[in-house]
Formats: sequence, C-alpha cells, structure tokens
Amino acid sequence: MNTSPSEYAIIFAWLLCAIMFNTGMCSLNIRCSQKDKHALLNFKQGVIDPSSVLSSWSTQQDCCEWRGVKCDNITSRVTHLSLSCSTTLPTYTDKEDKSHCLTGSIHLSLLLVELEFLNYLNLRNNDFLAIQFDSVHSQYCHCANSSALHYLDLSYNDNLSINSLQWISSMPSLEYLYLTGIDLHKETNWLQFLSELDMGGCQLKDLSPSIQYANFTSLKSLSLSANEFPSDLPKWLFNLSSGISSIELYSNSLKGKLPKALLNLKHLEVLNLEDNKLSGPIPYWLGKLEHLRYLALNLNKFSGSIPTSFGNLSSLTSLLVGHNQLSGVVSERNFAKLSKLRELDIYSSPPLIFDFDSYWVPPFQLQRLALAFAGPNLPVWLYTQRSIEWLDIYESSFEAQGKFWSFVSRVAQLYLKDNLIDVNMSKVLLNSTFIYMSSNDLKGGLPQLSSNVAFLDISNNSLSGTISPLLCDHKMLNGKNNLEYLDISLNHLSGGLTNCWKNWKSLVHVNFGSNNLTGKIPTSMSLLSNLTSLHLHENKLYGDIPLALQNCHSLLIFNVRENNFSGNIPNWIPHGAKALQLRSNHFSGVIPTQICLMSSLIILDVADNTISGHIPSCLHNITALVFNNASYNKLTFFFPIDGFSYYIFEDSLELVTKGQTIDYGMNLHFVSLIDMSSNNLSGIIPPQMFSLIGLYSLNFSHNKLTGQIPNEIGNMKNLESLDFSTNQLRGEIPQGLSNLSFLASLNLSFNNFTGKIPSGTQLQGFGALSYIGNRNLCGPPLTKFCLQVSEPKDTKAIDEDGDESAFWSWFYIGIGSGFGTGFLGVSYKFLYDLRG
Ligand SMILES: *[C@@H]1O[C@H](CO)[C@@H](O)[C@H](O)[C@H]1NC(C)=O
Ligand SMILES: *[C@@H]1O[C@H](CO)[C@@H](O)[C@H](O)[C@H]1NC(C)=O
Ligand SMILES: *[C@@H]1O[C@H](CO)[C@@H](O)[C@H](O)[C@H]1NC(C)=O
Ligand SMILES: *[C@@H]1O[C@H](CO)[C@@H](O)[C@H](O)[C@H]1NC(C)=O
Ligand SMILES: *[C@@H]1O[C@H](CO)[C@@H](O)[C@H](O)[C@H]1NC(C)=O
Ligand SMILES: *[C@@H]1O[C@H](CO)[C@@H](O)[C@H](O)[C@H]1NC(C)=O
Ligand SMILES: *[C@@H]1O[C@H](CO)[C@@H](O)[C@H](O)[C@H]1NC(C)=O
Ligand SMILES: *[C@@H]1O[C@H](CO)[C@@H](O)[C@H](O)[C@H]1NC(C)=O
Ligand SMILES: *[C@@H]1O[C@H](CO)[C@@H](O)[C@H](O)[C@H]1NC(C)=O
Repeated sequence: MNTSPSEYAIIFAWLLCAIMFNTGMCSLNIRCSQKDKHALLNFKQGVIDPSSVLSSWSTQQDCCEWRGVKCDNITSRVTHLSLSCSTTLPTYTDKEDKSHCLTGSIHLSLLLVELEFLNYLNLRNNDFLAIQFDSVHSQYCHCANSSALHYLDLSYNDNLSINSLQWISSMPSLEYLYLTGIDLHKETNWLQFLSELDMGGCQLKDLSPSIQYANFTSLKSLSLSANEFPSDLPKWLFNLSSGISSIELYSNSLKGKLPKALLNLKHLEVLNLEDNKLSGPIPYWLGKLEHLRYLALNLNKFSGSIPTSFGNLSSLTSLLVGHNQLSGVVSERNFAKLSKLRELDIYSSPPLIFDFDSYWVPPFQLQRLALAFAGPNLPVWLYTQRSIEWLDIYESSFEAQGKFWSFVSRVAQLYLKDNLIDVNMSKVLLNSTFIYMSSNDLKGGLPQLSSNVAFLDISNNSLSGTISPLLCDHKMLNGKNNLEYLDISLNHLSGGLTNCWKNWKSLVHVNFGSNNLTGKIPTSMSLLSNLTSLHLHENKLYGDIPLALQNCHSLLIFNVRENNFSGNIPNWIPHGAKALQLRSNHFSGVIPTQICLMSSLIILDVADNTISGHIPSCLHNITALVFNNASYNKLTFFFPIDGFSYYIFEDSLELVTKGQTIDYGMNLHFVSLIDMSSNNLSGIIPPQMFSLIGLYSLNFSHNKLTGQIPNEIGNMKNLESLDFSTNQLRGEIPQGLSNLSFLASLNLSFNNFTGKIPSGTQLQGFGALSYIGNRNLCGPPLTKFCLQVSEPKDTKAIDEDGDESAFWSWFYIGIGSGFGTGFLGVSYKFLYDLRG
C-alpha cells in the first residue's frame, strides 16, 4: 500500500495589501488627552487580554506611549490604534494558536465617538467574539464628523460574526475595510462607497441582493473571494465604476461563460476568477483589457485554446490558465509581448501541444512556471529562464540529463510529482529547498543533498542501495542541514538505518517505509529531537525499540508496522502522541498503563504481536477517544511556499478496519481506532472503556478475552467497525449494541455468546458470518431457532458454568435479513493553487 502522505496544496491567499504600521512612540513632551485615555481604557474593559498585551495601558503612563497607540505630533490626539496579533502556523496542526491574542468584545461605537481623530484601527488576527456598535452613540455625536476612520482591519477574527454592517455608514471617511475571515452570512443589507473592499471568506451566500444596490462608484478594488456564491457572474459587476482596477472572486462557485460586458471595465488590472466553475472558451476579447497585470482563470472548466490575443497584454505579470479543459497549440505567439510575465501556469491534462520555435528566446524571465508537455524533451526555451523559483512539471515524460539538474539546482521549489522522469540519481546533487519527485521512474542510488534542501519526497520510485549516500556521504556536511521532511518510502532501499543522524537534527518527518531496510534502530536517532512523525513500516528491522528514542519528545506518529521488532511495547512514547502503530511485529509483555497517559492518542494499533496480560482498565483516560472532534486530530505538515501559501501534507497510516486494509491520508483524523487483535490478551474487556464514545473502530479479535459485553457498548455511537471474534466472551448480545447506527462491520463469531440476537434491529442486517461459532446463539440471521419459556431480566445473572438454557426465551422463525447499515460520508475539497 502506498503510505506516502496524500498531499494537496492550499493557499491562504486572501490577497491583501499588507500594511505594516510602526507603533512608534511619541516624543516625551506629548501628553495624551484625558478624553482619549478614557476612551482607550473603556475599550480595554471589554477586552480579555490573556498575554497582557495591554499591560502598558495604565494611568501612570502617557497614553500616547501605550502599546499600539499613536498620537498626532501636533494635536497629541490618538490617530492610530494597531493591535493586530501575530501567530505562526504550527507544523502539525491546522489550528493556529491564538491563546495569546485579544478576545472579548470590541466597543466600536464608544471608541469611535470618543477617539474623534482615530483614522487607523487595526485589530487583525485577534480572536474577538463580538463587536458592539451602539447607534445611540453615533446619533449622539451627529455623526457628520463622528468618525475620522479611514482604515479598519478586523480580518481573521475568525470567531467574530457580524450581523449588521449598518454602522459602516457612520464612517464617511472609511476607505479601507478588511473583513476577511469574518462570518457575515447574516448580513444582507449593507452598502458603502469604498475605494477598497475586501470580504474574502465571509460565508456570503449570495452576491446580488446585497451588493447590487450598493453605490460602488468609487470602488477601485473588490474582493469577495472564498465565499459561497453559487451563481453566474453577477450582472451588476459590469455596472461597477469603469475605474475599477481589481476584481477578485476566486474560490466561489461561479458558473457560466465570461460575459463580454467585462470589457466595460477597461481599467482592470487584476482579474482573479480562479477556482470557480466557469466554462466556455477563454474569450479572445480578453486580450483587449490592455492594463491587465494579473489574470487568473485557472481551476475552472474553460475549454478551447489559449487566445493568441494574450500575446498583446504587455503589462501582464501573471497568466494562470492551468487546470482547465484546454486543448490546442501554444506557441511563442501566445506570449509575444509579455516581457513582464513572471508567473505562468499552462498546465493541462492532456498537455497542450507545444509548437515553439527551438530558437525562441522568450521576452520574459519567469519566476513561477507550471506546465505539462508531451515528451520526450523539455521545451528548449525553458533553459533560457534563469530566475525560476518555482517549477511545476506534471504528467510529462522526459529524460533528465545533467543539464536538467544543473538548471533545477537554482530552482528553490521543484514540484515534479507524477512524471515519468527517467534518470539515475546516484550522482545527482539536489539543491532546491523543496523537492517533490514522488511517483516517477527514478533509479540508481539515493542522490546527495546540499544544505539548502528542507523538503525531499522521492517516494514511490525505483531507488536502490543503502541510505548512506543521502545521510552520510555528504560532501558538504557542515552540521547545518535544514532538512525537515524526508520521504524515501516505496523504493528498494536496503542496509541499515546508519549512524549519521547527528547531521539531520532538523528533521520533523521521516518516512522510510516499504523498503528492504534491516538492522536495529540506532540510538543516534534519538538526536532527532524535532521529530514528529516516524514511519519505518514494512521493512526488516529488528531488535528492541531503544529507550533513547524518548528524547524525541515531539513525536506524534510512531509507525513501525510490519517489521521484526521485539521486546516490550515502548512505555515512554510522549503523552502528546496521536498514533502508535506497532502491528505485525514480535512485541511481547503486557500493554503498559503509560499508554493511558497519551491523552491525544487516536490510533492505538498493536495487533498481530504476542502481547499478553489484560487490557488496561485505564483506557478511558485517553481523552482524544472520548470526543469525536476530528478537526482536533489533524496530522498535517505545513510547508510554507511564501508568506501566504503552504503546501499541506496530511500524514498517513495504513489501518485495518471493517475487515479491510485501507490507507488513510487526508481522512486519517476521522479515524480513531484501537486494534489489539491477534495477541494473547486475557481477562475481561474493562467496562470503563465503553465510555470512549469517540471511537470509530475497535478490534479485539483473536485473543483469549472472557466475560461479557456490557450494555454500555450502546454509548459508543461513533463506532463503525467492531470485531470481538475468536475470543471466549459469553453472555447475551446486549440490546444496546443495536443503538450503534453507524455500525457497518460487526463480528462476534467464535465466542460463547448465548441467547437471542436482539431482533427487529440492524443487528440482523449483518450476515450469519458475524455470529457463527457461538454454539448457543440463536435467531436471525442465524438459522437456529430460539426456544424458551421465560424472558431474562438480568443478563448479568448468567452463572459461571454458562447455563444459557434460561435464556432460550423465544420461539423465533427467522426471515431473511436486509437492513442497510449506516455510513458516514465525508467530502473533501482539493485545492491546488499557484498563487502566492
Ligand atoms: C465636528 O468636529 C469639530 C471638531 O472636532 C467640532 O467642533 C464640531 O462640533 C463637530 N461637528 C459635529 C456636527 O459633530
Ligand atoms: C453614488 O455616490 C457618488 C459619490 O459619492 C454620487 O455622486 C452618486 O450620486 C451616487 N449614486 C447613486 C445612484 O446614489
Ligand atoms: C447597468 O446600468 C445600466 C445603465 O447604466 C442599466 O440600464 C442596467 O439596468 C444596469 N444593470 C444592472 C444589473 O444593474
Ligand atoms: C495586438 O495589438 C495590435 C495593435 O496594438 C493589433 O494590431 C494586433 O491585431 C493585436 N494582436 C492580437 C493577436 O490581438
Ligand atoms: C532485500 O534484501 C535481501 C538481502 O538483505 C535480498 O536478498 C532481497 O532480494 C531484497 N529484496 C528486495 C525486494 O529488494
Ligand atoms: C486515569 O484518570 C484518573 C482521573 O480521571 C486518574 O485518577 C488515574 O490515575 C488515571 N489512570 C492512569 C493509569 O492514568
Ligand atoms: C474537542 O476535544 C477537546 C479536547 O481535545 C474538548 O475539550 C472539546 O470539548 C471537544 N469539543 C467537542 C465539540 O467535542
Ligand atoms: C480485526 O483484526 C483481525 C486480525 O488482526 C482482522 O483479520 C480483521 O479483519 C479485523 N476486523 C475488522 C472488522 O477489521
Ligand atoms: C468474523 O471472524 C471470523 C473469524 O475471524 C471469520 O471467519 C468471519 O468470516 C468473520 N466474519 C465477517 C463477517 O467478517
């Protein structure tokens, strides 16, 4: 199975003019006005400030020197308030940590009434929950000049929901309004004349009713991207001021053809319609919008060819038409005058026909290029491009010569996945920061890396030999390697894990799975203190898991499935770990209770070993299994492309559930699983563990477990797969089991269960194979009749000898089964994007 991470790229590209403002101090003699100070302290009262950002806001200090506050040099009145919060995307989660940011509510009306001269207010990327705008305040000051506000940025306060934007009308000076990421779906009645409007990701569902009445005559820039409009391009758009220069409507669900009325907007410089469902040909007349700088039509359903009229768009810096259904020929005519072009995406599948003169020297020097071509040779003009930072070649087949490697060694980001690149990598020195060459036809030994490489995925190729050329025989070893992500899985590599780890302390993700590696885990791997994800599955590694690995205290995924490891189950795995996969080895001993301290664990797979003893009774302490909130469980590696965009790699694991072996990647975080099957476990199933109601899959089959299944199993409402087969469990099948409406796979066979299978429930929907091998079990779907006089009151009353005769309470004639079983559907949005 392919266990390389499923990958997709997304862009957090609500393109914004990033305006930085220095929160400079005012000179000492300036004293802020009492009124402003009072207003700011009032504002502070509504704010919850967990990291004491506002600690300088005390009456002892001049308020012009408070953090984030700036006063006018002459009047000393407060003009700027800038309290944006900075966060960094952590490596292995999609949740930004905003616990240090400001929260609480914004008393906006009060603030604006009192801070009469405030013209710049930036509260970006905090975590405010409410905004209070009291119209009484605005009336009270008659509003004509109540607000000097010119710039308002509330974007990325993701938990802020705004029901009404009426208050904007009391801000006549407002020119810049940033509301990206704020939930505005309740607001349908807003209007404003702004010169710039940015409301990306606002969950707006409909364009027309709210906007068509707006007076947008001075609008220069409109951004309504990543909302939820399911419609044709709105007609009012073409009645916008002909002076508009930027329209961004990417990532909506816009349909239909591009209307010719777009030509009315003759000053258009930016037209971004990326990631919609627009169709029809890319119109030739678009080439008449001569001021266009940025044209993004990629990720739509356009057909036909790239118009040659684009060759006249001499201001164009970005031309993105990839990921459509284009066909036809591209040649130098398409790009004749594009001397400013920096970014070109003409990827198409099947590839466009390249008809370039082999002596053509493009008028441009590209920085970003995405293309596909029908081999066998790269277009010659590619080698004239000396500034490429980002090169994407897809679904193409070509021979990579020495010339190619020296060319790409200057390219920082190399995305060559799924090509048929035929090359021997033994002598190649890779130098790009980001290298993604999985699923090609790479042969020979492993390449060498320069210290620039931070990301390398060469999985699923035919590389052979040992891993030392990559990790040890490093000409430029200077102890300063930056490699964070290394995936060489699914090759034919052999030999041991080497002792060269001291050079690679920056590694975060290591995947050596599905090779032919042998030997023990060297203790020097414990030097990888940043390691979050270690995959060594499907090799021939053996020995104990060294205790020294406890130095890898960031470990979230530990996967050594299908090797020959032995010894005890490691009891030192960091408590924050999310997945522990030891299946199909020779681990022995008992399951350590330290497992229960791993409160974030969602995958506990120790199946197919020789583990004995009892199932620990503390499993209910694994709180991640008590909740079913998958989004907390994401195992995502973010690799920054630039300031706005990241490649996202979801970690993956191969798991057995519902009787199938499935590779979970994108959806790994939806699976929470305990698999202890095929061991020597004995004793009862601890009843406390039935409070793990977030669990999706539970497999205790092929052990020596005894006792009964308590009725509380009915609480495990998220269970889709349950296997207790081949144990020594007894008693009746509890009625509670029929509460599990998502259960799609059930196996209780080969135990000592007795009595009647609860009837009239979906439990009959499972075939007889789910119940066979229980001598005294009866009722559909089994063919055995149930015969008994009295109904059992208390299933716990079964005596030790297992005298089940008391429970033959029914005379039942079975009819065929035919119940459907529940299934949770999950859909994902794949987004591939070229923009920064
Ligand atoms: C406008 O502002 C000025 C100076 O701050 C003030 O004197 C005047 O009363 C205000 N006008 C109104 C209508 O509020
Ligand atoms: C729109 O606003 C402009 C400028 O403020 C104004 O001149 C124009 O009359 C307004 N148009 C409508 C239809 O309200
Ligand atoms: C656009 O403006 C024209 C006149 O300027 C008007 O007739 C038409 O109804 C407007 N269309 C929309 C959709 O507002
Ligand atoms: C490019 O523009 C020139 C004049 O500016 C025009 O004559 C020519 O037809 C245009 N070419 C295309 C392909 O539109
Ligand atoms: C794995 O390595 C062994 C020797 O260690 C060799 O005999 C075998 O052919 C290799 N298997 C594969 C699939 O490369
Ligand atoms: C499990 O949690 C309980 C508290 O909820 C605690 O008292 C107990 O020590 C924990 N057990 C283990 C083995 O972690
Ligand atoms: C999600 O899980 C966390 C603990 O990881 C818990 O605190 C929170 O309440 C859960 N949320 C829901 C909606 O279950
Ligand atoms: C449970 O584990 C056994 C053995 O490991 C496997 O054969 C079976 O398919 C698993 N059951 C389910 C429902 O996945
Ligand atoms: C349940 O498990 C038994 C033994 O492992 C197997 O023979 C049977 O086919 C399984 N039933 C189903 C429905 O998978």
